[in-house]
Amino acid sequence: MTKNRHSRDGHELNPETLALGLGYDPALSQGSVKPPVFLTSTFQFESAAAGKRFFEVAYGLRTPDPGEQQGLIYSRLNNPNLQIFEERLAAWDRTEKGAAFASGMAAITTSLLALLSAGDVLISSAPVYGGTHFFFENMLPGFGVEVVQVPAGPDCVDRMREAAARVGAERVRMLYAESPANPSNAMVDLAAMSALARELTGDRERPVLTAVDNTFLGPVFQRPADFGVDLVLYSATKFLGGHSDLVAGVVTGRAALVDAIGVYRTILGTMANPFTGWLLLRSLETVSVRMRRQAKNARALATLLADHPKVTRVLYPTLLTPGSPEHALWKRQCTGPGSLIAFEVEGGEAAAQVVLDAFEICRLAVSLGGTETLVEHPMSMTHADVPPADLEAHGVTPGLIRMSVGLEHLSDLKRDLRQALDVLG
Ligand SMILES: Cc1ncc(COP(=O)(O)O)c(C=O)c1O
Repeated sequence: MTKNRHSRDGHELNPETLALGLGYDPALSQGSVKPPVFLTSTFQFESAAAGKRFFEVAYGLRTPDPGEQQGLIYSRLNNPNLQIFEERLAAWDRTEKGAAFASGMAAITTSLLALLSAGDVLISSAPVYGGTHFFFENMLPGFGVEVVQVPAGPDCVDRMREAAARVGAERVRMLYAESPANPSNAMVDLAAMSALARELTGDRERPVLTAVDNTFLGPVFQRPADFGVDLVLYSATKFLGGHSDLVAGVVTGRAALVDAIGVYRTILGTMANPFTGWLLLRSLETVSVRMRRQAKNARALATLLADHPKVTRVLYPTLLTPGSPEHALWKRQCTGPGSLIAFEVEGGEAAAQVVLDAFEICRLAVSLGGTETLVEHPMSMTHADVPPADLEAHGVTPGLIRMSVGLEHLSDLKRDLRQALDVLG
């Protein structure tokens, strides 16, 4: 496949197909079918004039000529492995551009630092991943940015509107959602959030931006840009990487925004390395197959959990009550349930610990989205920095266990889950 072709004879190619060819020309790499790993820190210029022209664009001193590609300079600015991955994920997300980072937190922090300034207010859904929460609570205020958090759920955007009225609509610069939320699977209405951003922007010059952490369902089951969201953020450590063998992050969105974030990535040095980019390319080829199969396993395990006498609550989209606002939102916004289940066992943290220690196949570890099933205790692990009272307000109780369902045979997973729960008697 030749470079940069999204369609053939007017037929739009699907992201599964683009993930195998977009952005890479084998003729430039000895005919290698797969992109090699460009394990280099720096790139040789054809001439001094070419080097000068590349830098002019990289530092925004000149707008590129129509069709001009940014030349390769230095792997803190750009690298073929990252660029190919970024282009392919942007195609998945139906956005213009992507930028890959050293971690999900690098993607989130760099993007927010690039776009928020002292005096701005960020309104976010809650709960969010513990690291994001830490950044909101302990770091952004140091840069003069105020963060207001409101509970996720079908009426989250109404709460965001009220919060904007409280702080002064003109101070709001960004609406941020983690949807579905880690670990509660609570969702935010992304179309309504985009509409609120437009409403708050009014005739202001600086628009109110929207950002979504799409780690749990994207890019296969949720595409926030389809609902008008400006920035789509990921921990690529999870489903995008998919094999628990790398740490990375990525943002996709309109080119102008991603370019602005890219300047911060260059200066903060938060980019992913070339080998990680190469691993992500390998993984993106199978993301659709993996996520669909993992969701199939998860759906069956969620049903098993819902029927178990020692399980008091299961948070998983297929178990939402048909006709409820939550279910309607899920159906409108997502094309599948994903493979993250949160369930509460009777007996609080002590019981949760007993169950976690009893698993034989499922591994007791944080992270998610890999090929293996992982279980963890959000309150004492991934979300340990969030005050317990705040967590409980968002349904994250001491007895709650998070399970990221993998690709093991379903019968083995069912057996393991049953025997772990049976320890509770
Ligand atoms: C929803 C979500 N966002 C962001 C992150 C942070 O990603 P990383 O660990 O790659 O920095 C995580 C990590 O667990 C996460 O679950």
